[in-house]
Amino acid sequence: MRINSEGPPPNVIASEWDDVTDVEYVTGGAQKSVYRAVVNGEDAALKLVSVFHDEEEGPDPETVLAYWQREIRVLSTCQADTLVRLVDWAPRTIAHDNQLYVAYAEEFIDGPSMAEMDLPMAPSEVVKLGLDICTALSSLHEKGWQHRDVKPGNIVYDQRYVLVDPGIAFSDEEPNITETGCMPPGTSGFRSPEQCDYWSRYGAFDGRADLFSLGIVLAIGFAGYHPYEAIAGSDATGRSLQSAIICVEWDPSCCPALPASTIPILSRLLRRHAHQRYRTADQLSTALEEILGKV
Ligand SMILES: Nc1ncnc2c1ncn2[C@@H]1O[C@H](COP(=O)(O)OP(=O)(O)OP(=O)(O)O)[C@@H](O)[C@H]1O
Ligand SMILES: [Mg+2]
Repeated sequence: MRINSEGPPPNVIASEWDDVTDVEYVTGGAQKSVYRAVVNGEDAALKLVSVFHDEEEGPDPETVLAYWQREIRVLSTCQADTLVRLVDWAPRTIAHDNQLYVAYAEEFIDGPSMAEMDLPMAPSEVVKLGLDICTALSSLHEKGWQHRDVKPGNIVYDQRYVLVDPGIAFSDEEPNITETGCMPPGTSGFRSPEQCDYWSRYGAFDGRADLFSLGIVLAIGFAGYHPYEAIAGSDATGRSLQSAIICVEWDPSCCPALPASTIPILSRLLRRHAHQRYRTADQLSTALEEILGKV
């Protein structure tokens, strides 16, 4: 029986490659399917990305391949205990049902993503999450990469909080993948204001954009709801939250559930102008360490 309407069934994958066994479907979206498998002897997250897409809006095959290669390049050049690690397994393709998929393998993080956790989280856990994601972001930023999609679904927990999914990471040194006129890369409700102004400011933003997105994630962890929800309305969609982010300077009175000691940090992370935020993930780490034990 076919479990996932997008990716090939686990038995098809297991029979395709000798060095892949014990395949189980985990989750999937329109483009990417995630399986748990033993890959080259290691417990792994096997990721299959569909190269073709039915919807007219979907990215073309060259774009999908370029993002796939970028994710692999980012993960093979940046290392941190809290940035997901590639498994030693040559990326390859698999054809099924007239579809072509590209595949690669990462260490399996055996726990929920923050998107699946009960909210609000314990404040000390949110601080730990912030510290772990700062370590991951530092490893990206020092090599010139911006992640551009820091959000709860891209943070997975297993003894520590691990950042995944750097497929749309950006570097000034790299050719542009995103086509002009498309939605700016990232997820609505999590993009920094300057990320939304992508086409006019192309290349003119840096790791502080990721710090803004991390500010949204931390506020959600502490308060249990999106920090712009009171501005955008309780039936807010990603789109209306994103409009609020672009138009309004965040005010902590919108978020009464936040612990008082977190407000100076969140206020600095959520500034509309990047120069008013922390300059680096390491600076944010120092601020978070100061409140650990006090929240
Ligand atoms: N290495 C991993 N180990 C365990 N689970 C993982 C791993 N990577 C991803 N996942 C799970 O799979 C989900 C989707 O993974 P990923 O973010 O890479 O796919 P995606 O299709 O790009 O998602 P989105 O478009 O929503 O960002 C994650 O939210 C997480 O629950
Ligand atoms: Mg993701």
